[in-house]
Amino acid sequence: MKSKTILGIESTAHTFGIAVTQGKKVLSNLRDSYTTEEGGMIPFKVGEHHLKVFIDLFQKALGNAKIKIKDIDAIAFSQSPGLGPALRIGATLARSLHLLLKKPMVGVNHCIAHLEIGRILADAKDPILVYASGANTQIIAYDENKYRIFGETLDIGIGNFLDSFGRYVGLGFPAGPEIDKLAQNSKNYIELPYNVKGMDLVFGGILTNLRQKLQSKEYELKDLCYSAQETVFAMLMEVTERAIAHTGKKEILLGGGVACNSRLQEMARILAKERGIKYYILPNEYNVDNAAMIALTGALMLESGVSTSIAESIVKPYERTDEVVVSWRND
Ligand code: FE2
Repeated sequence: MKSKTILGIESTAHTFGIAVTQGKKVLSNLRDSYTTEEGGMIPFKVGEHHLKVFIDLFQKALGNAKIKIKDIDAIAFSQSPGLGPALRIGATLARSLHLLLKKPMVGVNHCIAHLEIGRILADAKDPILVYASGANTQIIAYDENKYRIFGETLDIGIGNFLDSFGRYVGLGFPAGPEIDKLAQNSKNYIELPYNVKGMDLVFGGILTNLRQKLQSKEYELKDLCYSAQETVFAMLMEVTERAIAHTGKKEILLGGGVACNSRLQEMARILAKERGIKYYILPNEYNVDNAAMIALTGALMLESGVSTSIAESIVKPYERTDEVVVSWRND
């Protein structure tokens, strides 16, 4: 990778992030996330949050990277998928900088960026990405110029599942880390529905079942946390293993906020070991939504000649991973 200075903007959901990268080096990677006591994201409130924090984050990101605004060679922004009001703030900032600095701009698909950062920072060559976050749960791998989805959730994201369960029992938001901790104190598996449909996953029914079990007051919370994790992570690993068998990929990469979960990491490590393939996990700041992954993916795209004009920069809240033509890979 050339050592161009790229400003990355992440703005798909509750996290607004600004990063500065130079080649493979991350010079700064800042973020500020919208939170709420009651839980739940109101899209226009998320947009308001991003608008409120961006100037401050932008200035700090340049300061931490020890660069001036004129040193930016290109701007990369998350163009898809996500919440419209959130995406628009990032895109507007990108367009403004593009016009002001007269430097190229490139729109990046957020889900693909979770995979590309693993190839760049962890040196994974051609991994299968287990992308497990609040809004997204997809098994993604490269095949013939596209990142294909080999399995995905049919209802809510796995992180949303954990947060909804956590909110119900008052664990706050995000609840995943608390559930992870509570689950470590149990080995008592309580049977829950196991919902794998072909290569896809369904979490809603398990959530309803957990709520019923909680209401019955017959079970301990730590046992339900343990059982919830064991069930949904096993579902995810089952689909991942089948995708590996089908594609013949030799590497597993975890990504997304739920990739920070210690039990999911352990399961993925075991799966990789049993199949004799490599396992990669990045530091948490690169698993959660972050702007470094947008900058690094943008750098790859720009190097291959891809850029985005103002007219093409309209945000795409519903773009799917496999709609993007991956012209920057030639394997
Ligand atoms: Fe994400």
